[in-house]
Amino acid sequence: MLVSGEGSNLQAFIDACAGRRLDAHIGVVISNRPAAAGLERAVAAGIPTAVVDHRAYDSRETFDAALHQALAQYAVDLVILAGFMRILTRVFVEPRVGQLLNIHPSLLPRYRGLNTHQRALDAGDTEAGATVHFVTTELDGGPPIIQARVAVLPGDTAETLARRVQRQEHLIYPLAAQWFIEGRLRLADGGARLDDTLIPPTGIPYETAA
Ligand code: GRF
Repeated sequence: MLVSGEGSNLQAFIDACAGRRLDAHIGVVISNRPAAAGLERAVAAGIPTAVVDHRAYDSRETFDAALHQALAQYAVDLVILAGFMRILTRVFVEPRVGQLLNIHPSLLPRYRGLNTHQRALDAGDTEAGATVHFVTTELDGGPPIIQARVAVLPGDTAETLARRVQRQEHLIYPLAAQWFIEGRLRLADGGARLDDTLIPPTGIPYETAA
């Protein structure tokens, strides 16, 4: 798993593994930020950690090559981006297409990029949410897998909305990983498929998947 910050999604994976909702073993947690709280969560759970500090590299490509090398030392079947706040280039992504997942805090295809909750509020949206998707070289543009929606409430700020959306993130992300581990989820012919059925462009609604 790759993290840059708080690591609440990492924690959800740790808890899902412990609770047998996710039949997986987290091989390593790598961060680009030495101070990421997610690293402490990993240590507390007995998971190996590594740091590849992006400030030590002069381009995205050289950073990605170092990240690739660090991860290559662990035999992992699936790479989970969990609040990993670096744009990855094809150097890292291409060898792992189909084995690389991200969670994005918006109802993709709406609001790729940053500040998603504020943008949803500014637009007057009545719903916000999060989407798990396969990662391709197109930023936040890979095929969606599962999407959870929450209602925007009167008086919501980006922070209150983010907190409610994150509770959903912690449910949908381990679920998508479990589908992958069961061999049900794959990326084929440019589309995400669950049980060989093409997933719609906004992902499977969590309400129907739960
Ligand atoms: C989440 O909101 C996720 O959607 C976004 O970054 C945040 C990471 O939070 N990609 P955490 O580090 O997992 O707590």
